[in-house]
Amino acid sequence: MKSNFYNAQVMIIDDSPESIEIAANILKKVDYQLKVAINANIAMDLIKKDKPTIILLDVNLPDIDGFTFCEKLKKNKDYMDIPIIFLTASNDEKSIQKAFNIGACDYVTKPFNAKELLARVNTQIKLYKQQKELMKAYNELDSFCDIIAHDLKAPLLSIHQLINIFQEDYKSHLNDDGNDLLQVVDKKSLELIEMIKYLLDFSRAGKSEIKKTDIDMQEYCKKVFSEMIDITSDRNIAFNVGYLPIISGDKILIKQFLQNIISNAIKYTSVRKKAIIEFICEEKNNVYIFCCKDNGVGFDMRNANKLFRVFERLHSSREFPGNGVGLAICKRIIQRHGGKIWLEGEINKGTKCWFTIPK
Ligand SMILES: Nc1ncnc2c1ncn2[C@@H]1O[C@H](COP(=O)(O)OP(=O)(O)OP(=O)(O)O)[C@@H](O)[C@H]1O
Ligand SMILES: [Mg+2]
Repeated sequence: MKSNFYNAQVMIIDDSPESIEIAANILKKVDYQLKVAINANIAMDLIKKDKPTIILLDVNLPDIDGFTFCEKLKKNKDYMDIPIIFLTASNDEKSIQKAFNIGACDYVTKPFNAKELLARVNTQIKLYKQQKELMKAYNELDSFCDIIAHDLKAPLLSIHQLINIFQEDYKSHLNDDGNDLLQVVDKKSLELIEMIKYLLDFSRAGKSEIKKTDIDMQEYCKKVFSEMIDITSDRNIAFNVGYLPIISGDKILIKQFLQNIISNAIKYTSVRKKAIIEFICEEKNNVYIFCCKDNGVGFDMRNANKLFRVFERLHSSREFPGNGVGLAICKRIIQRHGGKIWLEGEINKGTKCWFTIPK
């Protein structure tokens, strides 16, 4: 049988010669390159030399067990994307659940059906290749946006400067309507420059190298808020920070993240006589779940799917100024830290911005 997944390398990690032979005979029918390791140490050496497309992993290995080995690979940024199918005699519910929890993409129990195993391996290889292509296309599009935004910035700044020169030199030659029109053109050019700046911020939030250090979130949240206080000095804001843990993160990106969500909380509570912004955190399994809660204008949950799109806004610029990029940047930053972000809001009752960071 010819496969359209040629060049795929399948690695079998198993210490039983019979199991290896059965699996190899099934997979040989397809144009896969096969590699075999009889323990985790040998497997690791082979993976370092040449990364396989997919791994079929037994649970009971002579050196370390398959679960520990899977966890080790999933923690390594070079190997975390290799799909791992457990191929094992352990068919208890706990083992199956554990395998998926630690990142396996499938679980096949021995004795297995030849056609089924082949179908599962094919499906995972197909998904893996599609994911790679999608990522490539996404990165190309992202670089394209970055280049466009970057290249537009210089001519736009020139246009803005030229308008200013024109305004100064020809003011007396134009009537009031002409001068008003020029002012509008100047304002629009500034808006464009700002949009470009936000686009570049958005692009960089997804690209800049991450340098993780310990961040005391309790201190950091207070610091970020106090740096923003100037803009809000005429407002009555209670900024309450509960116990927050120390996380591992990139200080620059986490600051940009906090600035965006705190500035949202400040902005969308501007209609309140007394704004209350609260930061809390709880722990669950392997993650910290943070929440920034405000008593502002909230939003309609039916539009929640729009919140993280670039330049998408749920409130008008007349009510609250903004570009609609802040949360898109936040999503990128939190994803790059392995976490998630979502918002819960109720019109006129306030908003809760939730985000997770792995421990
Ligand atoms: N705390 C909040 N309360 C109410 N609505 C919010 C809150 N945070 C975000 N939103 C809604 O989500 C939209 C997107 O937020 P985002 O921060 O991306 O953009 P923005 O605040 O409008 O502009 P900027 O790019 O300057 O941050 C906002 O326009 C607003 O409608
Ligand atoms: Mg914002």
